[in-house]
This record gives sequence, C-alpha cells and structure tokens, in this order.
Amino acid sequence: MNWDDDTTGTEAADRLVGPAADGEDQAVEAALRPKDLGEFIGQEKVREQLDLVLRAARARGATADHVLLSGAPGLGKTTLSMIIAAEMGAPIRITSGPAIQHAGDLAAILSSLQEGEVLFLDEIHRMSRPAEEMLYMAMEDFRVDVIVGKGPGATAIPLELPPFTLVGATTRAGLLPPPLRDRFGFTAHMEFYGPAELERVVHRSAGLLDVEIDPAGAAEIAGRSRGTPRIANRLLRRVRDYAQVKADGLITQEIAAAALAVYEVDARGLDRLDRGVLEALLKLFGGGPVGLSTLAVAVGEERETVEEVAEPFLVREGLLARTPRGRVATPAAWAHLGLTPPRAQGSGNGQQDLFGA
Ligand SMILES: Nc1ncnc2c1ncn2[C@@H]1O[C@H](COP(=O)(O)OP(=O)(O)O)[C@@H](O)[C@H]1O
Ligand SMILES: [Mg+2]
Repeated sequence: MNWDDDTTGTEAADRLVGPAADGEDQAVEAALRPKDLGEFIGQEKVREQLDLVLRAARARGATADHVLLSGAPGLGKTTLSMIIAAEMGAPIRITSGPAIQHAGDLAAILSSLQEGEVLFLDEIHRMSRPAEEMLYMAMEDFRVDVIVGKGPGATAIPLELPPFTLVGATTRAGLLPPPLRDRFGFTAHMEFYGPAELERVVHRSAGLLDVEIDPAGAAEIAGRSRGTPRIANRLLRRVRDYAQVKADGLITQEIAAAALAVYEVDARGLDRLDRGVLEALLKLFGGGPVGLSTLAVAVGEERETVEEVAEPFLVREGLLARTPRGRVATPAAWAHLGLTPPRAQGSGNGQQDLFGA
C-alpha cells in the first residue's frame, strides 16, 4: 500500500522501475506532464468520458462533479487531476490521505477552498476515519461541521463551503469504503498502456527533453516499461545518459538495449529485484510452492517489498502465481531465465512458445 510513497524502502529508492520517486524524478515528471486532454496519450475511454463530464460542466457554468481515479502508480493520475483543473480553468490544491492526520486538517483545507477549485486528494484510501466522515458531508452538501471545544461542552458549528471538485486518486479502488466511493460522480479506472502508446510517450518525452531517438530505439524502451509511462520516462533518461557518454547521443535500438543492460532492466522490463525473486524461487525452491516470508528472506528483502514491489508485475506477466500453498513459478518463468524445470514436463513441448519473442 506504499505504492506512491517516497519511502517504500532503501532498496527501492534507486530502482529504475519501482514506485519510488526521487527529487530529479519529480522535477522531470512535472516538465513532462501533458497539460490538457488532447496531449494525454492513450486511456481512450477515460479521456472520452472525462471530456464529456468536463465539457458539460463548463457548458452549464457549473463546478465539475467529483472524480475518482484508480490505477497503478505512474499511469497518470496526478497528471489527469492537473488536466481537470486546467480544462476547467480552475486552481488546484494538492494534498494526500496520509498528510491528513486529523479531521481538523481537512476542515482547514476545505474551508480555504475557492469556488470551483479542484482539490486533489492523492492516496485517498489512506485517510483517517474521522477525516473520511467529514469528507462525506463536504462532498455531498458542501458543508462541514467544525467541532469547537472538548468533552460535553463541545459544539458543532456548521460551515458552508463553496462548491469544489474533489479529485481522489487511489491505487486500489477496492480499499475505499463504499459510502466514499458512491459520492464520486465519475470513476475512471486507468489501465496499463500498450506498447504503441508507450512508444508515443517516449517520442513525446524525447522531444521535450531534446533527445534524438529513432523508432526502434523508442520501441525498445517502450517494451521494457511495464505498461507504465513513468517508467518509460525514467528509462528514457537513463538511456539518454548512456547515449551521450558512449555514443553520439542518438538513441537506437542497440543503444537502448545496451544501456538498459547496464541498468539491469531486462528485455521484458524485469529489474534486479524481480529477477532475484524469480531466481530464488526457481533455483532454491525448485519453482515452489514456497511461502512469501521464506522467499523474502532468501532474497534478503522485506516481505512487503517482495509482495508489493516485485510480485504484482511478476504476476501480471504470468511469471509467478500466488496460490494458497505459496508462491509458484510458471513455465514462462523457467523459460525467461533460461532454466529447465527439474521434473521434465514432456520435452520439446514448445516452452519457447510460451515466452514468445
Ligand atoms: N497518458 C500520458 N501521456 C503522457 N505522459 C504520461 C501519461 N500518463 C502519465 N504520463 C507521465 O508519467 C509520469 C507519471 O504520471 P503521474 O500522473 O505522476 O502518475 P500517477 O499519479 O498515476 O502515479 C508523468 O511524468 C507524466 O508526464
Ligand atoms: Mg501521483
């Protein structure tokens, strides 16, 4: 649940493909953010629906409905929240669930909003319970009860709020209590990006960073980006460094592949941690099943790091399965690491085919 945290773990801090973001990352990210819906690549459905919501609100001269954005880290939730504000010509206030410890913190923010302002609440599933309850009323009635005093003498003073648009972001919509989920007028689920979309992201970012790249170079980076624009942008920057130091600056397929080999991001986008987990599973435990804790100890990582940083991608790629008896490697995992499963499962039955290119 620490997906968007800057502190997922010391190891995570220098990972190219992990969720951690360092200072440089944030500065470059801001520079690379699409500024309006037209510039936003992919997510066709979400874009079309959001466009309608915002256009209709503008036509009515009203404040847009509350919007919930759910999806994995790096898919563009923060970017979309800023686009919503820009499209509505409204200012934006940015905060996050963990930053709101007390209901009072939220009351202070809500009561200082301007009419029509967008309030972006990142990691909304990590807000405290009392703050959450205050938010229900604010979203529905544009009103909060400010509690003055303590104990039996405490009184609730109702406070009117100007209409505002709440944009909530979460990596897991399923974690939101239904009453909160139901108060959003529009919910958008962001999907992972396809290779063609990621290539467009890479080309667009390269243009903004003034980096020369050919189509095969962009495809190579896109293919290792795990369906995630943030990762595509990160890999592009590291490949750019390599191209500048080791070549003439132009990013080709060869340069991209060589650079990402240096950074230990393999052809499928697995990094050192992912490969470490798979290797332990295959070499030490014969492909499993093995318990998460045991597996974590074997790779010298925290349980949470293995479970929340490495596994989601490995599962999504069909390399690892979480079963009631423990973690199990799939045939594709053996093929990807170039290893043979201990018990021959009928030789020559086309293991290569499972893995494809
Ligand atoms: N659809 C998109 N088109 C172009 N760039 C994108 C897109 N989605 C995300 N990005 C880029 O990826 C980076 C991470 O996006 P961000 O909005 O911070 O993700 P999230 O908030 O979901 O973690 C940003 O630098 C942004 O420019
Ligand atoms: Mg974000």
